[in-house]
Amino acid sequence: MEENKVIAMPRIGDKAPEFKAVTTQGEINFPADYKGSWVILFSHPADFTPVCTSEFMTFATMEEKFAKANCKLVGLSVDGLYSHIAWLRTIKDKIEYKGMKDVEVKFPLIEDITMEVAGKYGMIQPSESSTKAVRAVFYVDPKGIIRAIVYYPLSLGRNFDEMYRALIAMQAADAFEIATPADWRPGDEVIVPTAGSCGVAKERMESKDKMKCYDWFFCTKEIPEKTILDKIVKK
Ligand code: BEZ
Repeated sequence: MEENKVIAMPRIGDKAPEFKAVTTQGEINFPADYKGSWVILFSHPADFTPVCTSEFMTFATMEEKFAKANCKLVGLSVDGLYSHIAWLRTIKDKIEYKGMKDVEVKFPLIEDITMEVAGKYGMIQPSESSTKAVRAVFYVDPKGIIRAIVYYPLSLGRNFDEMYRALIAMQAADAFEIATPADWRPGDEVIVPTAGSCGVAKERMESKDKMKCYDWFFCTKEIPEKTILDKIVKK
C-alpha cells in the first residue's frame, strides 16, 4: 500500500467495498458471492502466531453455528497463500487447545500480500502496525451493506460468543423491528422504537399490551426466545 495515502475507512451503512481475491478455498468476488447471506469479513495480524491460532480454532469450531444463522466467514491476513495453507495444516495436524483438536478451517482465508483489500477496509492501522492487519471484523448483511465494525489491537483475542450474539441481535432487530438493550440475548426483553408523538407516548405508558415502560422514551416488550430463534436460526 502506498505510504501516506489517505484511505477513507468504510463505515456502518456503507456498501461493502468490492474486491476479488485469492483464498484457501479458491477465488472470491466480495461481496457479490455472498448476496443473500450475512458474511463476517475479519482480519488477523499474521499466520503462525499464538493469538491468531487460538482465534482461528475457536471460529472454525463455531462455523456451523454461524452458518445456521445464515452467516458465512471470510478471513484475511497480509500473508501469502502458501503460508496460509501451511498454517491451517499445522492447526489441523498438531494443535490441541482447550479441548479443540483436529480443527479444519473450511472457510476461505484471503491472501493479501499487496495489502489491497486490507487497505480498502482500514485494516492497516500504522500506529499499531504498518506491516500487519489489526483484528478487524466487518459484518456485511445480505444486501452487501456494512452493519457493524469492530477493531481490536494485535494483542487482544476476540470473543466469538459476542460476535455471534451481535449477529443474532442485528438479525432480530431487522426481523422484529426492535432494538436490543445492553447484554441482550434471545428471550430477554427487547426495546420497542421510541414513540413519535406525546399522544403515542402517553398511550404507551398506559398500555397493558405486554409493554413495559421505564419512562416515556424507554419501553420494552417480551419476545420469547423460541420466537426469535425459530425466525433466525435454522434447525
Ligand atoms: C498473535 O496472534 O499472537 C499476535 C500476532 C501479532 C502480534 C502479536 C500477537
